[in-house]
Amino acid sequence: MKTFYLTTAIDYANGSPHLGHAYEKVLADVIVRTRRALGEETYFVTGLDEHGQKVQQGAEKEKVTPLDRCNRIAGEFQDMLASLNISHDDYIRTTESRHKKVVRSLLQDLFDRGEIYKAEYTGFYSTRAEQFLQEKDKEDGVWPEIYGEVSEITESNYFFKLGKYQEWLLQFLDENPDFILPSHRQTQVIEFLREPLNDLCISRPKERLSWGIPLPFDPEYVTYVWFDALVNYITAAGFGDNDFSKLWPANLHVIGKDILAPPHAIYWPIMLRACNIELPKQILAHGWWTSSGAKMSKSTGESVNPLELIEEYEADIFRYFVMREMKVGQDAEFSLERFESRYRADLGNDLGNLVSRLLHMCANYFDSIVPQHHEAEEPEKNLIKRWEETHGVCLENFEKFQFSQGLESLSGFIRSINKYADERVPWKLAKSTEVGAFVNLQTCISTMIEALRLANSLLVAVLPEIHAKINNRLGLEPTEFWRDDLVWDYRLDGEKLKEKIILFPRK
Ligand code: ME8
Ligand code: MG
Repeated sequence: MKTFYLTTAIDYANGSPHLGHAYEKVLADVIVRTRRALGEETYFVTGLDEHGQKVQQGAEKEKVTPLDRCNRIAGEFQDMLASLNISHDDYIRTTESRHKKVVRSLLQDLFDRGEIYKAEYTGFYSTRAEQFLQEKDKEDGVWPEIYGEVSEITESNYFFKLGKYQEWLLQFLDENPDFILPSHRQTQVIEFLREPLNDLCISRPKERLSWGIPLPFDPEYVTYVWFDALVNYITAAGFGDNDFSKLWPANLHVIGKDILAPPHAIYWPIMLRACNIELPKQILAHGWWTSSGAKMSKSTGESVNPLELIEEYEADIFRYFVMREMKVGQDAEFSLERFESRYRADLGNDLGNLVSRLLHMCANYFDSIVPQHHEAEEPEKNLIKRWEETHGVCLENFEKFQFSQGLESLSGFIRSINKYADERVPWKLAKSTEVGAFVNLQTCISTMIEALRLANSLLVAVLPEIHAKINNRLGLEPTEFWRDDLVWDYRLDGEKLKEKIILFPRK
């Protein structure tokens, strides 16, 4: 089986990491851990996009070299990845020679085959957006604020023949309706392609921008940053090496909706096509966190940076919050109140209480040896049925990257374990002298332990550390493959458990 190769956007080295960056890397990490639990080999790449005008200008302002600035920012992003427990295999930086080599070889090849040509161009240029604008970019006859200063300039540049692939791309999208997720984004791309597609200016004159990869066929120019950045996906897969086909085509590019069209949905497929390289299998465009990075005010008047929550609450809590709160593809509003409430309710009350009271009961009544279960009665049958449903719904959602919906269903199952306890009332059974009470108590504790073991298996991708802590209490290693661990088989009957723990202390 081909390795499941997954990439994220490579972050711009023009600022510090924020909530949006953290979310995307967590989403990709959860996807990759899900594929591993499903039994696939995976390869996961993320990295940093280091060339371009903003990086150069930022360095000038700080009076350091662009590379020094990039090194510092790379450190910040890598610290963020470590603190979120991201399990990437490679971190690619576009200033690395392995990458520059690939960009230059593609450019030379396209130039040699006439896919790139030189032409004079006069147009309105926005320094802030680093791009030429068109009449249609105006709003009410003026350039919108976001473009900053706009001036008319004429220059010679190199152009990539994007336009000639327009029909081909439309046909490709038509034949591959699942290329872009969610599907309404694919519809938008098709709409975008109804307008004529201009060729893409892929060079910047050196006097305007020096911080970039020089064109191999004309050293007076550097490469446009998007043409450089997108290529990272094949550089990291080892383009030019024999092993390239082990990873390429990528199974999934995870990106935000702002960089779907044109870069990922138009430039990238056409660049690959023009180079005779296979297209990635799928692109997942996630939504935006609103008020990300901005200071959010607590009721006390203090402000909070969402990334600081990782220090206060641990990576898993943050991972759970962003995966549960945001439906993939939609936007979500970050709020500290929501964060605290997910922590208290879903994690503390439902999962945390189940773990601590169950371990406590097993210790009290059975000296921490899981009792043997007896024949299932109505309450057990119902809970087992709930598990079968939950595990189906959960896996189906996880495979479609709908982690919020999958976790919602899993939370429902965890609550039904607690409800099962309320129905069986083991703390009363333990005191009862009635015939059959002890047998029922044995079945109840064994059933709850089994239900907890199973629910916890499904948490491995989102909450890897909490998952491992719970399994450790049950005397188990972390789940490696779901095919082994999702069957209701009372495998812990007769096993010794460890003493209880508080997973989610009150804050
Ligand atoms: O776009 N919510 O880099 P970047 C969710 N270097 N996601 C967000 C977000 C938010 N508020 N803000 C940003 C770039 N993102 C390019 C990518 S790929 C070859 C080059 C996401 O640092 C954004 O959508 O501006 C993108 O996927 C990623 O963070 C990096 O954004
Ligand atoms: Mg951006």
